[in-house]
Amino acid sequence: MSGKIIVTGGAGYIGSHTVVELSKAGYQPIIIDNFANAEKRAVEGINQILNTEVTCYEGDCGDADFMEGILTKESSVAGIIHFAADKAVGESVEQPLKYYKNNIGSLLTLLEVMPKHRIPMLVFSSSCTVYGQPDQLPVTESTPKKPAESPYGNTKQIGEEMIEDVVKSKVPMKAIALRYFNPIGAHPTAKIGELPLGVPNNLVPYVTQAATGKLEKITVFGDDYDTPDGTCVRDYIHVVDLAKAHVSAIRYLEQQDSKSLFDIFNIGTGHGNTVLEVIKTFEEVSHVPLNYTIGPRRTGDVEKVYADVSKANNVLHWKAEQSLADALRDAWHWQQTLS
Ligand code: WQD
Repeated sequence: MSGKIIVTGGAGYIGSHTVVELSKAGYQPIIIDNFANAEKRAVEGINQILNTEVTCYEGDCGDADFMEGILTKESSVAGIIHFAADKAVGESVEQPLKYYKNNIGSLLTLLEVMPKHRIPMLVFSSSCTVYGQPDQLPVTESTPKKPAESPYGNTKQIGEEMIEDVVKSKVPMKAIALRYFNPIGAHPTAKIGELPLGVPNNLVPYVTQAATGKLEKITVFGDDYDTPDGTCVRDYIHVVDLAKAHVSAIRYLEQQDSKSLFDIFNIGTGHGNTVLEVIKTFEEVSHVPLNYTIGPRRTGDVEKVYADVSKANNVLHWKAEQSLADALRDAWHWQQTLS
């Protein structure tokens, strides 16, 4: 397959890995990023991996004039993969309007410009946060959504509904929402990876920074949950597997005759690991002992969530291939390249 695919947020964590996989699959990725949550070094890393210069436009995909300029220049864009968004759950509680303006506003602009420029395909970055604490596990795509626990999670729920309504209005658009579970790890070349701003909120970058001594110790947020060792369970998926799921989604959309469709897929490994299992596995793959203490629960954490991924396996013909150990090994190698 081939064709130009715009990747908004293409210099970000998941976006940069997806740009690499798109190119390897024969597509021509075009990065759009305002670098608010990304660094230029990510584009350099992508270019080193691919041994080429990927087209990159610096700017806000929510700016209609900016998008019009790009889409006038770049003819016959086959699709858009939309990552660009703010994604810090805690920050979204403190600054909800920043999240609604950016996350909803950028999607609104894309939904307006796509039909005008006859761009038929959209892949939307959604999240397992739409499920909240599910009543049954593993979660399937028909597991009822729960009221969002944060404005960030709400922007993902609203985003899915906006796309569905546009497709229902018979605008010629084939769209997929991918509900990510917990992306971790880095590219095996260690040329791209996660670049958290400030002290990481997420577990794995916190662990890798603690392993370098950059952070003093890890606090495990609660060990009194109803789980095998009392710590929360998540479905941790290697970011390269997650990136490949986006290529599979584009390929699937290309193969659909229907001019208008919307579908949703869980993208995870299909099994869960506890916080302490992550810590133990990291120690095994890095041979670095970790210093951690058990602290109080973190507000808003769900106890356990992991995916039923049979729909993505059977319909997208995609399956996660890498283990928790693979992802933590790659995360550690990447951390060691950072100053
Ligand atoms: C994982 C587990 C923590 C840090 C978040 C977002 C979600 C999605 C993925 C965007 C939890 C525990 C963490 C620490 C800890 N992002 N933990 N000590 O919260 O499952 O999901 O990232 O879509 O929207 O909410 O990921 O990595 O923050 O936490 O014990 O220092 O690790 O309690 O159980 P989470 P996380």
